[in-house]
Amino acid sequence: MPTLPSLGELSLDTFLSDYWQKKPVVLRGVFPDWQCPLTPDELAGLAMEEEVESRLVLERDQGKPWQLKAGPFSDEDFDQLPENGWSLLVQAVDHWVPEATALLDQFRFIPNWRLDDLMVSYAPDGASVGPHFDFYDVFLVQGLGKRHWQLGPKCNAQSARVKDTPLNILADFKADAEYILEPGDVLYVPPQFAHWGVAQGDCMTYSVGFRAPSHAEILDDYVAELCSRLPEHLRYQDPATAPTQTPGLLGNDALSALQALLTEQINQPQQLAQWFGKYMTEPKYLPDQGTETAPDQEALSQAAAELQEHDGPLFQAPDARFAYFESQLFANGERYECDAETAALLANTRCISGWQAQVTQPGVAALLSQLVARDLLWFEDPTAPEGEDE
Ligand code: SIN
Ligand code: CO
Repeated sequence: MPTLPSLGELSLDTFLSDYWQKKPVVLRGVFPDWQCPLTPDELAGLAMEEEVESRLVLERDQGKPWQLKAGPFSDEDFDQLPENGWSLLVQAVDHWVPEATALLDQFRFIPNWRLDDLMVSYAPDGASVGPHFDFYDVFLVQGLGKRHWQLGPKCNAQSARVKDTPLNILADFKADAEYILEPGDVLYVPPQFAHWGVAQGDCMTYSVGFRAPSHAEILDDYVAELCSRLPEHLRYQDPATAPTQTPGLLGNDALSALQALLTEQINQPQQLAQWFGKYMTEPKYLPDQGTETAPDQEALSQAAAELQEHDGPLFQAPDARFAYFESQLFANGERYECDAETAALLANTRCISGWQAQVTQPGVAALLSQLVARDLLWFEDPTAPEGEDE
């Protein structure tokens, strides 16, 4: 088992019982030897790439408040920016920058499959993305310079917003608390709590966001998968055979029959886990998401040969999302059957030592070849500085 990280002066137990999903907290010095994984120029470089999701928030654009522009951006776009009053935000930086991937290790005391991505922002002095709330938990790691954070109350979909902007900016933001964060400090904000962070000098913030699908999204996706497998002949059936005196009535017995039908479909832990594992490991930030085809025979044979040659650990790829349930492994939206020990070994840590002992288990060699051919398992540590051996 990996050793659990600490959160500065706060113990993980206290954090989880008193703050996680309950109230915001500032965690000072979580990264005492903090080194900012990338520079503002490198962030701008990422925002110029086609496959990287990025956006610019402008506090005022041609008279309109809080405007949003989607990347990728060109040199010209950056040249035309005003001196101040804008923020650049880049999603899933953990997919592209090894040192940023390593930063996520600090937060693996929450299940891997809940992690969404690492978003990195840059703002010049005085800029911000405005007072707002998010529907997910976020750890805001101060990367470069300082940020003045103001925290407000818990909000909801009815909270008043600023008009004429595509962004959800709170209209009546009132701060209950304020803090200045320095490099290596972390602010934790639970879902729906108002927050507003204004840059003090050149400022970069690293946001570790968590995946929190809405109940509607969960039902929508699960039911779609269920429906794709339910045969046509399974139909609603009348619960009673007695003649009715009230032919217009939707009787309680009919509603109970309906509820039983629905409950029967939901009360299937195996079926639910199979769907949930695939759903929560689906990649969100990869351009070929959903279009990826299974590796061909040549790729699988090559992966098998490479695995035979390799005697060190294997590593989860930066964009790999693994989870497991009993003897099922889930990897980037796909489900694989294997033994429970192998599933746990592959999904629990980024650096997978001792995998060789599992290869004798039925199907494990084929599974590893699949994962290597899909580029989800690497032979090199993606977070090791360039040129350094594992
Ligand atoms: C930022 O990095 O500019 C803002 C992040 C947030 O408020 O969620
Ligand atoms: Co936010």
